[in-house]
Amino acid sequence: MSSHLAGAAVLWLAASVALAQSVVPPTGIAPRFPTAYKELAQQTRPPSNNWLLDANDDTERFRRLQVAAGGTDIPMWEIAHRYEELYAAIQANNWEMGVYHWEKVRDRLNTAGMKRPARTENIERLFLDNAVWTSMHEALKSRDAGRMRTQFLAVRQACMACHVAERVGFLNDSSVFTRTAAFPR
Ligand code: HEC
Repeated sequence: MSSHLAGAAVLWLAASVALAQSVVPPTGIAPRFPTAYKELAQQTRPPSNNWLLDANDDTERFRRLQVAAGGTDIPMWEIAHRYEELYAAIQANNWEMGVYHWEKVRDRLNTAGMKRPARTENIERLFLDNAVWTSMHEALKSRDAGRMRTQFLAVRQACMACHVAERVGFLNDSSVFTRTAAFPR
């Protein structure tokens, strides 16, 4: 193959990769920082998609990561998803899937406590360090379908009790709790 041909092949490959990435065509609108985040105006480089690399220093990079990682709300999304998958696992008698999600619920509650230390007391006292977490874990490992169902409903109550203790009891009307209020007979 001549070097011309090879060059053309490389160009063609690059063009098809670019095409493959352009499902969302650019709007051409000039990038700018959100007005609500005044601190960002201190950045020397212009706003770009390199929202971490283009920051002025590491302190600012860590600050941005902290903002993006959120507090309790983002872990709760994941926890609610895994809680509902646990509900599905129990109905399917798939205890391994149940244990898988249940162990990650514990990990995520701990990250929530790391991010919002004023919530650690209730996370541990109402969920991780009293019988709630362990009893569910043991019920799953026992492979006893009845025990799993009873324990799941106790978990549901514990989730909601913590919301009341954290003064977000209004969240107990979340659809995830309605969907998991009982097991179909
Ligand atoms: C510390 C005790 C605590 C425990 C235990 C707890 N939560 Fe929460 N949850 C909270 C708090 C606090 C919030 C509100 C977060 C905020 O203010 O950003 C919340 C928010 C939520 C939300 C709303 C998330 C959103 O913003 O969309 C859902 C859904 C939820 N929790 C489900 C659950 C489920 C399911 C469980 C049990 C497996 C559970 N929670 C266990 C404290 C807890």
